[in-house]
Amino acid sequence: MHEHIHIKNGTLYIEDCNALELAQRYKTPLYVMSESSIRQKCQMVKSDFLDKHDDVHAAYASKAMLTTALIKIIQQEGLYMDVVSGGELYMAIQADFPTDKIIFHGNNKSLEELEYAIKHQVGRIVVDNLYELKALNTLCAALNRRARILFRITPGVASSTHDYIATGKKDSKFGISLDDAVIYPAIQEVLNQPLIDFMGFHFHVGSQIFDHTSHIKATEIALNLIKNVKERFDFTVKELNTGGGYGVKYTRDDVPQTIAYFTDAIMETIDGFCKTNHIARPTVFIEPGRFIVGEAGITLYKIGSVKELPGIRTYVAVDGGMTDNIRPALYQAKYEALIVTKADLPASQTVTLCGKCCESGDILIENLPLPVIDEDDILAVFSTGAYNYSMASHYNKHTLPAMVLVNGSNAFEIIKRETYEDLVRFDQVPDYLK
Ligand code: LLP
Repeated sequence: MHEHIHIKNGTLYIEDCNALELAQRYKTPLYVMSESSIRQKCQMVKSDFLDKHDDVHAAYASKAMLTTALIKIIQQEGLYMDVVSGGELYMAIQADFPTDKIIFHGNNKSLEELEYAIKHQVGRIVVDNLYELKALNTLCAALNRRARILFRITPGVASSTHDYIATGKKDSKFGISLDDAVIYPAIQEVLNQPLIDFMGFHFHVGSQIFDHTSHIKATEIALNLIKNVKERFDFTVKELNTGGGYGVKYTRDDVPQTIAYFTDAIMETIDGFCKTNHIARPTVFIEPGRFIVGEAGITLYKIGSVKELPGIRTYVAVDGGMTDNIRPALYQAKYEALIVTKADLPASQTVTLCGKCCESGDILIENLPLPVIDEDDILAVFSTGAYNYSMASHYNKHTLPAMVLVNGSNAFEIIKRETYEDLVRFDQVPDYLK
């Protein structure tokens, strides 16, 4: 299915690591990330986008998956990083990621988060609303620092993806409205701020998108705004950040596009518009998250109970579920899976793969074809690299899985498995209850 996955004698290999051996050595559930896949995706960003155009940058959207080891890879690959909270920013800083290459997002950044970002001189703060702009001003004055900012705008375009992950619509909690009565006073205000360097605009239309239409429409809307800003304020916008959203392959029905399919169209739109309208072409940023890590991830589970309901369905339960992958429950996301030692065997049944949470909706895959199941079989679910670990929870006090990074025939535990002790690490008992 993906280049880093192979079947040898019916057994699944992730790069050169035997999936069964990984499960035995590191226990299950286990997140496995292929380093070669991550690096290959970074290389695609380079060859399809960075090397093809002048004055462009790409940031990895770290909300998709963030560990310190990954930050090191992203840094080595020369990408910028997009963070969306003080916590993500902290992780980047503690990993010595260059702060001038950090883009700080968020629709409700706290004063503490903004102060933290200003003190560390993060490259760009993407201001989501005027409340934030005011706070930023006050902080810059108090700290005697400057901040380089973009305005996140709401382009008002619909994307063909799940409603919960479409963010470009007018009715969105993200970004500044493009109503004349809102956006132009906001720009007037930002241009009057002595300590703030206004660099330009940002939009993000949504996630897991296969069709570039919404990216192009949003780009056109942003370009018209850039032109109007030049005319009204005689101000040249220097940057345009077009967000992420490039879809990846989860199942055999998914036919993802190359990154160039999106970025060529975006760049053509920008170059054409700027030429026709005689305006300077802004520096262009993209922010792929899922594209970089989504396909690199595989989750290994151990199969436990099998419940046959004649004429209804067979439930096959694994030792994880919605706590390590909330996406099927939240977005009806589809995944594919196989038993790691029976990859060559024909399917003999169609089952419902469920997790172990106290929740009927804890279904990972419906209608999954599987061969005969034996006790303790190990099952691999594919394309779990993005928005799985980063959205994991402790529901039912399940401990979070470990994560290994596979590099050829080596595997490194980059996140340790949680223990029961970790579950009570922050609990405190008032004296009268002791
Ligand atoms: N830039 C901004 C400002 C974003 O909000 C996002 C994602 C990205 C970039 C990266 O988007 P990507 O390239 O990964 O599609 N939890 C959902 C996805 C939420 C995406 C949120 N923003 C899911 O599991 O599908």
